Amino acid sequence: MESIIVWALLFLLINHALLLPFSTACSNGDCQLLDSCSETSDCGSGLYCGNCPAMNKNQPVCTRGQATQVTNIINGLAFNKYTWLVTHNAFSIVGEPSLTGAQRVTFYNQEDSVTNQLLNGVRGLMLDMYDYNNDIWLCHSFQGQCFNFTAFEPAINTLREVEAFLSSNPSEIVTIIIEDYVRSPKGLTNLFTNAGLLKYWFPVSSMPKNGEDWPTVTDMVKNNQRLLVFTSVASKEADEGIAYQWRYMVENESGDGGITPASCANRKESHNLNSRTETLFVQNYFPTIPNQSEACKEHSTSLIDMVNACYRAAGNRMPNFLAVNFYMRSDGGGVFDTIDRMNGRSLCGCTTVTACQAGAPQGTCKDTHAPVRTPADSGGGSVIMGSFNFSASTPSASSHSNRLHFGVFVLSFLAGVSL
Ligand SMILES: *[C@@H]1O[C@H](CO)[C@@H](O)[C@H](O)[C@H]1NC(C)=O
Ligand SMILES: *[C@@H]1O[C@H](CO)[C@@H](O)[C@H](O)[C@H]1NC(C)=O
Ligand SMILES: *[C@@H]1O[C@H](CO)[C@@H](O)[C@H](O)[C@H]1NC(C)=O
Ligand SMILES: *[C@@H]1O[C@H](CO)[C@@H](O)[C@H](O)[C@H]1NC(C)=O
Repeated sequence: MESIIVWALLFLLINHALLLPFSTACSNGDCQLLDSCSETSDCGSGLYCGNCPAMNKNQPVCTRGQATQVTNIINGLAFNKYTWLVTHNAFSIVGEPSLTGAQRVTFYNQEDSVTNQLLNGVRGLMLDMYDYNNDIWLCHSFQGQCFNFTAFEPAINTLREVEAFLSSNPSEIVTIIIEDYVRSPKGLTNLFTNAGLLKYWFPVSSMPKNGEDWPTVTDMVKNNQRLLVFTSVASKEADEGIAYQWRYMVENESGDGGITPASCANRKESHNLNSRTETLFVQNYFPTIPNQSEACKEHSTSLIDMVNACYRAAGNRMPNFLAVNFYMRSDGGGVFDTIDRMNGRSLCGCTTVTACQAGAPQGTCKDTHAPVRTPADSGGGSVIMGSFNFSASTPSASSHSNRLHFGVFVLSFLAGVSL
């Protein structure tokens, strides 16, 4: 009798061991980067379940959705030694309800709230600001004017999200780059004052103007000067104490000019990328017409190639800001992995920042697998976590993933608003 039970148990065990890998390899948060998944809860922290039909990668895999908290690994260097993730048109969010009553007719660039972007590790926001409706609005527009069908929301709403983030995350530094169409006198000054952001303001007088390094991130945190704001209007530096972007930054061309393979032309307002007077370097990497379903492809190997091209074009200088659309979309590591590589190279001479070791000489690298598995692996300290609860359609997903059973899960994850 006993032996029958033992045999039965053995049979079950063997069967289980053999069958398991062929049914569900992993689930319940055990799945690692690039493992097949059915839903986001299958994947480990910092990962969501997504696919990339634009690259014929229809089967959903665990995909990175959060940045490594780099200052948890290497802290205390000058601000301009680091590379930060920036969302282009951070406010232009798919599914954002119209506040003007008019049906919006414009492009979208992101898929989750600014709060969630910050929680997922975005540290720079590109915001277009206009006078509108007796206030200052975030707007996607043309000819310097905001219309009811291109308007998103009063800028103060978004700036209050930034204030809440800075207030609850006292070691984080955020940069705002304003495409500035505001003409109302002291308009921006009043806006930032009312948003409660002056207490974090990094003063223009302390910004390096002749190629010197920026203060260290630890000093910026200690002095609570954790908000950098740049405007595209030169006169506001003298008038309102708001830094004129191109006095401090070189910037590559944006839009389609910025994604030409192997070329990294400077934006016309910017000095040449190899200019050494400005100590910050912004790399724009997004097509002129944003495209949700193509974004995962843009954020794959072509992005790494472009980073290398820009690095060379700028005289072996690493971009400090990498600005993208639909930042979470990729075929696996995406912009997060790219930024880890950039920081690895600049901060410790390793292929990825997770191989860096605090205090060790350059090039002393931990044995790690690049790409990184999850941000939670990346060292001590707190991990700030947003969610991956974005609802966006990938139009081509429906035609490609029908044959996959778990395509259904992906579709329900991705289903929702259309462009
Ligand atoms: C939007 O603005 C146009 C003209 O600027 C106006 O005719 C139209 O009524 C406005 N729509 C709404 C819903 O307010
Ligand atoms: C800069 O940004 C533009 C715009 O996205 C892009 O087309 C270009 O390839 C980028 N690279 C360089 C080096 O400027
Ligand atoms: C996005 O790209 C897809 C595939 O290349 C194309 O079919 C679609 O029309 C594009 N969408 C937009 C809004 O340009
Ligand atoms: C996802 O977003 C919706 C709408 O914003 C919200 O109601 C829901 O609670 C969110 N779910 C999670 C898991 O965050």
